Amino acid sequence: MRLDILTLFPEIFAPLFASIPARAQTSSRVQVELHNLRDWGRGRHRQVDDVPFGGGPGMVIQAEPLAAAIRAVGAMDPRPPRVIYLTPQGTPLTQTLVEELADRPRLVLVCGHYEGIDERIRESLVDQEISIGDYVLSGGELPAMVLADALIRLVPGVIDSESVARESFSTGLLDHPHYSRPAVFEGLSVPEVLLSGHHGRIEEWRREQALLNTARRRPDLLEALDLSQRDRELLTRFQPPGSGPGP
Ligand code: ADE
Repeated sequence: MRLDILTLFPEIFAPLFASIPARAQTSSRVQVELHNLRDWGRGRHRQVDDVPFGGGPGMVIQAEPLAAAIRAVGAMDPRPPRVIYLTPQGTPLTQTLVEELADRPRLVLVCGHYEGIDERIRESLVDQEISIGDYVLSGGELPAMVLADALIRLVPGVIDSESVARESFSTGLLDHPHYSRPAVFEGLSVPEVLLSGHHGRIEEWRREQALLNTARRRPDLLEALDLSQRDRELLTRFQPPGSGPGP
């Protein structure tokens, strides 16, 4: 997968060159390219923004440098990219959306700033708009990093595929609790079943805990799932009828 990121602040992106994303690039599974929008700016100051037509506060990233940048970056690789603009007005990011995008060979992520980008670019050159949540950040850089990180870890071979299959949201449920040595920490014991060596019982306990965790913290996620009879039984064992979503 190739990710091209168009930004006024390429220096912010250090987290994409550490840890798992760094390994993904070293192993050539992922290519991340940062592009400074100012390279397509006007005049000696490489200006890319101007006051909004109609007045009002702030500045708007202008259509001309942004269009030139998106086209130039698009032409840097023969694979046509999907162009994504990060904005609070976009589709909310979910693991399902990340999974859809992870199948694409190439994405261009456009980071806005100030009051945003000229609307005509959204209409003509942006394919998709994504929000990372209902709050406003000072620019699209952090959202682009969030999206890039979530994508990179799904690229085959980047992390253990069993971990991905089991983690929160991939199963539609939140994750089960995890424990490591020591077996007793400050008087708190690890659940007995995990020390039993009985894989069947351990799997059942984990499923039960994931269901319970989800019922307690995110009942909205359970409602969207088609639970098996066994799952419903596991849930009711811990939840008295009427105390939450059940069978
Ligand atoms: N830019 C500013 N805030 C944002 C958000 N919540 N999601 C995506 N892009 C943004």
